Amino acid sequence: MNFQLSEEHLAVKDAARDFAENACKAGVIDRDRDQIVPLDQLKQLGELGFMGMMVDPKYGGSGMDTLSYVIAMEEISKIDASVSVAMSVNNSLVCWGLETFGSEQQKQKYLVPLAKGEKVGAFCLSEPEAGSDATSQRTTAIDHGDYYLLNGTKNWITNGSTASTYLVIAQTDVDKGHRGINAFIVEKGLEGFEVSAKEDKLGIRGSDTHSLVFTDVKIPKENRIGEDGFGFKFAMKTLAGGRIGIAAQALGIAAGAYELSLAYSKERETFGKLISEHQAIQFKLADMALEIEAARLLVHKAAWHKDNGEDYGLSGAMAKLNASEVAMKTTVEAVQIHGGYGYVKEYHVERLMRDAKITQIYEGTSEIQRIVIARSILS
Ligand code: CAA
Repeated sequence: MNFQLSEEHLAVKDAARDFAENACKAGVIDRDRDQIVPLDQLKQLGELGFMGMMVDPKYGGSGMDTLSYVIAMEEISKIDASVSVAMSVNNSLVCWGLETFGSEQQKQKYLVPLAKGEKVGAFCLSEPEAGSDATSQRTTAIDHGDYYLLNGTKNWITNGSTASTYLVIAQTDVDKGHRGINAFIVEKGLEGFEVSAKEDKLGIRGSDTHSLVFTDVKIPKENRIGEDGFGFKFAMKTLAGGRIGIAAQALGIAAGAYELSLAYSKERETFGKLISEHQAIQFKLADMALEIEAARLLVHKAAWHKDNGEDYGLSGAMAKLNASEVAMKTTVEAVQIHGGYGYVKEYHVERLMRDAKITQIYEGTSEIQRIVIARSILS
């Protein structure tokens, strides 16, 4: 077993770290405070080839592996988790879903600009009454021959206003339960498609989270993804990979808070010595370092499973559950180490603490990850 990163993976890590330090860090506090969407940063991510990292170059992507992707996600999330969530949704949910299950025509028309970073995508599963319970879709898409008529509301949609291409999950036949669900490619600007209220969130405030309202939106038949009734499995398979990306985001948030705490502990003095010389602080730093390293191993293992054609449902859920809990715990401790400074925006750790919380909620709550893990080990 080789735990060393290859030259290529180290190069990705350096590129992502440079981007985070040089393009994201300066305005991150302002973007968080004022809920400014990092459009310039997303454009630069596209130019770096990071918006379609795992997509085949013939569809405009970078043809990298999942390990490269999680390495980049970790580095960017250390500085700005609002940038990394937009990147994650575009890569793992939208591009992967389209490349894996889309038709050739759909790939040419929609995947290519998304993978190049010319357009941004959104994944629309959650509804007012269907977050964790994803089979309870109320949005309907009724077959009218050449087109489907889409009606309903989606909630908490990442990239809600930035996106141009939306993958929307909807019920096409209520009597068939989850087998009567389909996934559709919906373009912004269609008549009856309204990008509604923006959420005022605790964390990832630079990320634009919106409700979407569909009123008699005509979706061409050729925009259905896969066979009739494939939508629920499409969502589950896509989310299984998405969870590896969010695990990497959580890992990055934890690692960012740890790096800041380590540096601060070597600058700040109390009782006549550096706080890093107090055992109370040393024990916190030791726990952080250990838990982050363990989280990284789980994230890299899940990425390895995906890259090697192994099942990654279990390892992805484990990686996400663990990394998100480590992110929450580490960021709380980072604020504690910083004391009063940790409670103000200038020192970054309070933002990382707020950002960490969402990793326990989106792309399946911690409870959902436990359900996935329990089902897998009991089956
Ligand atoms: N891969 C393939 N198929 C799968 C699957 C997977 N990972 N998981 C389930 N399925 C299949 C099952 O095999 C079953 O198919 P059959 O009936 O043909 O056997 C079918 O799907 C239904 O499965 P379940 O009976 O297990 O479904 P369930 O209703 O019990 O729910 C669940 C399972 C795991 C709880 C699921 O509902 C779930 O994952 N919920 C969480 C949804 C979620 O993650 N939401 C986040 C929104 S997206 C987001 O957050 C993006 C963002 O903005 C950042």
